[in-house]
Amino acid sequence: MLSKNILSDFPALSRTIKGNRIVYLDSAASTLKPKPVIDKLSKFYLENYANVHRAVHTLASESTQMLEFSRKNFANFLNSSEHEIIFTSGTTMSINLIVESLVRSKMLNENDIVLTTLVEHHANFVPWVRLSKLHGFRVEFVEPSLRFGTLAIDDFLKKDINPKVVAITGHSNVTGQLIDIEKIRNIFPNSILIVDGAQLIPHQRIDVKSLDIDFLCFSVHKMLGPSGIGVLYGKSQYLETLEPFLYGGEMIDKVSVEDVTFNVLPYKFEAGTPNIGGIVGANYALEYLNNIGYDEVKKHILDLTKYAIEKFRNIENVEVYGPLDESHCGILSFNINGIHPHDVAHLLDEKFGVAIRSGHHCAQPLMNVLKSQSRLSQFPNSTCRASFYIYNTYEDINILIEGIKRIKEWFDV
Ligand SMILES: Cc1ncc(COP(=O)(O)O)c(C=O)c1O
Repeated sequence: MLSKNILSDFPALSRTIKGNRIVYLDSAASTLKPKPVIDKLSKFYLENYANVHRAVHTLASESTQMLEFSRKNFANFLNSSEHEIIFTSGTTMSINLIVESLVRSKMLNENDIVLTTLVEHHANFVPWVRLSKLHGFRVEFVEPSLRFGTLAIDDFLKKDINPKVVAITGHSNVTGQLIDIEKIRNIFPNSILIVDGAQLIPHQRIDVKSLDIDFLCFSVHKMLGPSGIGVLYGKSQYLETLEPFLYGGEMIDKVSVEDVTFNVLPYKFEAGTPNIGGIVGANYALEYLNNIGYDEVKKHILDLTKYAIEKFRNIENVEVYGPLDESHCGILSFNINGIHPHDVAHLLDEKFGVAIRSGHHCAQPLMNVLKSQSRLSQFPNSTCRASFYIYNTYEDINILIEGIKRIKEWFDV
């Protein structure tokens, strides 16, 4: 467990609904927000807010400084340079930006190959599939061949191709599998390596330099901060040459009817008024996590996951997806034989106060794989998903397990 007691920072957790204390196990969708982060953000809005990078008055310069301080802290966090940190609206926007910019810059052409996997979130799947149809590059997929949706590094080795781009999640939002990015980089030393860090970064500090990552995308709402704000790290060698995705204010240098020249990095990729409060709030969330210590965060989540997997092992007629070793982190997808995941999620909420997610988790290609690998005949293209974060405890998992056992009794399975 965490050495600091942080539960009082999350007032939602002391609410009761229909007599039950809320057990929030849906952090992979979005995390709760700590009161200290909200208080600081509220103070910023009340006392410092103005538009950034434009005016010379005091509020504008305070606001600009706080925004740029956030960029600096994210650059330190990732071991990158400040001009390599671009603020976007989230992971989805970041990945779309990269794909579109690569195509516009003719860095991704007909006959080029993009390698991705069947475990990706749609955010790292649909843009590749869709834009390959429009622009003629080819997409190849690594299929998860190990236990219930688990990717094997050997399957990347077997791919006898030379991809221009390797676009991969660092942490599956369905199976909870952590992917060994270092090994992937070693297999494809010359490819443009794009990492979807939406689930990874909330749990783990990543050094983009030592891992030689070219682009890393993540969303702040999954790491205690506001929604609608995300970070795109890009190696400056690429960002310098890539065509911007959005055109307009702030991203320009000189504009005339003849032509347009672009602003320096990172502003070239930040057209329009940014999500100022979101960026400042992102920094408060990062500081909150840094104060706890990222190593502690990861250990806490891994301890909870291990505990949950052990508990699930002893329940009959329940299938847990993903790996069952230390590469399984923070996210636990499961099904109960014969009961639809939406029914399970609804009953857990209604009768036990437990909030989990159910559905396809924006990963339909993976659902199809799970369906073919599943031992449960009625498996319905979706799963129940419990996901843990810093405010969860062993007791939360006990309540989840108790709820599942009771639901099984009611359905007699
Ligand atoms: C692995 C993964 N990638 C991408 C996304 C998309 O993130 P956002 O909706 O914040 O853009 C998610 C969100 O659930 C995710 O889990």
